[in-house]
Amino acid sequence: MIGRLFRKSAILATPSFLLSALLTAPSAHALPIASRQIFAGVPLTNSVLLFDSPAFPDPANPGSLIAEFQAYVSLRSVDASSLVGVLGDALETLGLDIGDDIGRAAERLALFASIGLPAQSVDVKVGGCGGDEFVEVEDTDLRDLGMMVRNVSIGSCEGLSAEGGGRLQASVETSSLDDRVFEATVFASPADGFGVISDVDDTIKISNVLDKLELVRKTLLDEPTAVTGMPELYGSLQETLQDPSFFYVSGSPYQLYPFLRGFVQDNYPTGPLFLKNLTILDLPSFISSNQADTLNYKVSQIDRINGMYPAKQFLLIGDSTEQDPEVYGEVFRKYGADFVACTWIRQVEGAENSEERFAAAFEGVPPEKVRVFTDAEIGSLASIDIAGGLC
Ligand SMILES: *[C@@H]1O[C@H](CO)[C@@H](O)[C@H](O)[C@H]1NC(C)=O
Ligand SMILES: *[C@@H]1O[C@H](CO)[C@@H](O)[C@H](O)[C@H]1NC(C)=O
Repeated sequence: MIGRLFRKSAILATPSFLLSALLTAPSAHALPIASRQIFAGVPLTNSVLLFDSPAFPDPANPGSLIAEFQAYVSLRSVDASSLVGVLGDALETLGLDIGDDIGRAAERLALFASIGLPAQSVDVKVGGCGGDEFVEVEDTDLRDLGMMVRNVSIGSCEGLSAEGGGRLQASVETSSLDDRVFEATVFASPADGFGVISDVDDTIKISNVLDKLELVRKTLLDEPTAVTGMPELYGSLQETLQDPSFFYVSGSPYQLYPFLRGFVQDNYPTGPLFLKNLTILDLPSFISSNQADTLNYKVSQIDRINGMYPAKQFLLIGDSTEQDPEVYGEVFRKYGADFVACTWIRQVEGAENSEERFAAAFEGVPPEKVRVFTDAEIGSLASIDIAGGLC
């Protein structure tokens, strides 16, 4: 415990803008030894965002699971009002009338105003696993600025299906003085069976990524809307593919995680949501959607999933606005039909939907393994026997 607190001495190497913020926060170093115990868990000065995470069978330890935890540790109270002011001005310059919606925009953007704390660790317990012991999720890389992604063994878990799938509750250890709760779902899934990897913007959620102004409005101001018919389609996949694991892989920044997670929860089968590491300085690149970045990022996220579940077969679902055809084509060429059962691309009106584009994106992929569909066809997709090898 003491070791963990002292790890904070790493702040000596943090950039000065962080340092000044840290120095104004009460320091655990100053506490007399006797009171340290009360501060086991997350220091009251810090806040933790624990992401929903996948768990997969540990190839080296049969019966044991590895969870890939992701957590973001930041300074707790950040005054978002200055961000709101800047934001309001910026949006009005863009021609967006925000009116009374500024509060909602500020809530969605709150994480952008947060100050990530490097070199932290959080203790996480997964209910029913490893005798309910806390496991340490630790970050040593100062460049991570509070974001940590770690594979940690959680031992064997109770309450899973015979195949080894199920949802488990993870919670971060907090001190006895702290009434905050930091929780997430761990999605355990066996090494084999089916999975679905899905994009978010304009595949399952109307985002209008082709119209930058509309994208900003949909992202910051509007209540999110599902693409008509997609929630029913995903619901039916849950049955026909026998509770596949769903992964949502999106080029959106992780700061939108609470918003996007809420949207998925309200409309779709839940699963881990992999978002991009972007700082507020990278926001212009999100808005202008840097295509090469998105391609590399998405392929790397699917590599990550392949590493966890090399024997699973996936249905990949995306749309034609950005790079999904190119990403999924690349993934097929890399891992083949054993990993990619089928690719579905929603053809979005106004996007680059030429035959040449799809032919180039899916070069080397058998045509019967790809389906580009229009909105009018969404209703009929549910009857395709993916498990039977059709696409
Ligand atoms: C995001 O940041 C974490 C922590 O630095 C890192 O482990 C992860 O690889 C990064 N992800 C991407 C896609 O860069
Ligand atoms: C966790 O392990 C899996 C399987 O080896 C791998 O694909 C993934 O990239 C690892 N994640 C991290 C953060 O190391």
